[in-house]
Amino acid sequence: MTRNIRIQSETPANNNHSLRIRHAREQGGRSGSALSRRSFLRQGMVVGAGAAAVGVRPDRAQAQSSRGGLTPGDAAILRFLSAIEILETDAWQQYNELGGIQDSEVPGGTGNAVYTAALAVLDSDMAQYVHDNTEDEYTHFGFLNAYLVSKGLAPANLDAFRTMPGSQATGAQQIPRLTNLMRLSPDTSWWTRYRSRTQNPDFGDTFPQAVPGLVQGEFPGIPRSDADLTPLAHIQAIANTAGFHFAMIEQGGTSVYPALAQRVTHPEVLRILLSIGPTETMHFQTWQDKAGNAPPLTDPTNGLVFPDLNSPPFGGEDYQTNLIMPEPTIFLDRKFPPCSIIRPTETRGAAMAVVKFLTDTGLFRGQSPGFFAALNELAEAADAARREGNQ
Ligand SMILES: [Fe+2]
Ligand SMILES: [Fe+2]
Repeated sequence: MTRNIRIQSETPANNNHSLRIRHAREQGGRSGSALSRRSFLRQGMVVGAGAAAVGVRPDRAQAQSSRGGLTPGDAAILRFLSAIEILETDAWQQYNELGGIQDSEVPGGTGNAVYTAALAVLDSDMAQYVHDNTEDEYTHFGFLNAYLVSKGLAPANLDAFRTMPGSQATGAQQIPRLTNLMRLSPDTSWWTRYRSRTQNPDFGDTFPQAVPGLVQGEFPGIPRSDADLTPLAHIQAIANTAGFHFAMIEQGGTSVYPALAQRVTHPEVLRILLSIGPTETMHFQTWQDKAGNAPPLTDPTNGLVFPDLNSPPFGGEDYQTNLIMPEPTIFLDRKFPPCSIIRPTETRGAAMAVVKFLTDTGLFRGQSPGFFAALNELAEAADAARREGNQ
């Protein structure tokens, strides 16, 4: 997987990406107000071809003052976060079409009763939570892109890579997708990482999986077709997979905002990151609680095991399902007392780490080399950003 995100920028696909961005930058003067959240929702998703049509100018051709004081590094961090939010939105939209509340706030699907019922085993409010998390993600990239455009800067636009098939199950829209929820290898080490009192990923520590089988194979988080709706233990395993994947996605957001905030320059950009990031944490906290309700079972179709996390060899402080607050752990230096914190928050290489993590856990299986090149380029630019001056 790592090899996919190391594609060099000379590839033709990447040149296309660069051309697209340049085209966007060269458009003249229209207001960014067209990028309202409602307009995103009405258009079915994201920035659309409209991103290129919105008035944006080259980062470096303008004095910093005409960019509202934003440095190129600030722009790169905002643009990378917007791209990640677009990807998050694409994934959540697929979950919502099949398992969320169907309404005009998050339109597109018609719902799948069997999958929705299986998700409700984790919590009777799951459909509402899926809907609300999905709507939140739309607003995250919508705001970030509108803010970039307001400063005369190019927004993130991944529309060229919206090519992958989605679910054929009852309830799903038949539209091309950016992310693949049907061959996931969800990482569940966030479960033990937030329960350890002595270790921290920023110190190089690694953590055991709560559901070891998930990361060892490829599993759907949504029904691929109506054939996945039976037997009952199979569709429940799919819902359980989603339950752990929800938390996996949101713990990533929980870390990436504080990680990148350390390298922004403008106070308003810092305010944006400090205001969006904790909403990811609110999502994560909710999903961590719900994942603990996933019933222990074995999927009869593929042998995937969801263990009883409250019984040996699991159980105890590392696994017990009602321990959903972060355990205090080491932070900055072992000489300090343990502290209850978000982890990791290391800023060096944080953007590339997110891309690698999402790639390794299967979210982009089937995507094109051009997609990985574009994402790689956005992440490298964000990781090159440095906090400037004394602002
Ligand atoms: Fe988000
Ligand atoms: Fe999120």
